[in-house]
Amino acid sequence: MAIKWDSSLSVGVDEIDTQHKALIESINELLEACRQGKGKEAVGKILAFLETYVVEHFKTEERLQKGANYPKHSHHKGLHTEFMINVAELKKQFNTHGPTLPFVIMVNKAVVEWLSTHINKEDKDFGLFLRKV
Ligand SMILES: [Fe+2]
Repeated sequence: MAIKWDSSLSVGVDEIDTQHKALIESINELLEACRQGKGKEAVGKILAFLETYVVEHFKTEERLQKGANYPKHSHHKGLHTEFMINVAELKKQFNTHGPTLPFVIMVNKAVVEWLSTHINKEDKDFGLFLRKV
């Protein structure tokens, strides 16, 4: 299940949208590498990039939210922390079993589904707030 960025996922803040696009690209790259049966090393590299990028991206959102005194800032930060716990689980699964089907299923659930719901609800809510201040 690939995820696609289109304008329906726009939160109306360029910096965030650009990062979301790159994030989605990297998730798709990860899934595609698994689909093609690429080895643990190749998939592991994409996974490592994805993890670093997610950390940077969350930092950006949290910085913008703090700077704008977004009332839901700590709630939003908490959601990011929960996601990083999922990522840690994902990495554990990957390190033990490699790019197997259960790993792909976990990526779809813990990353693809989480991210689309999070963008649509939480990030859009912040985007709306930011455009009002
Ligand atoms: Fe977010």
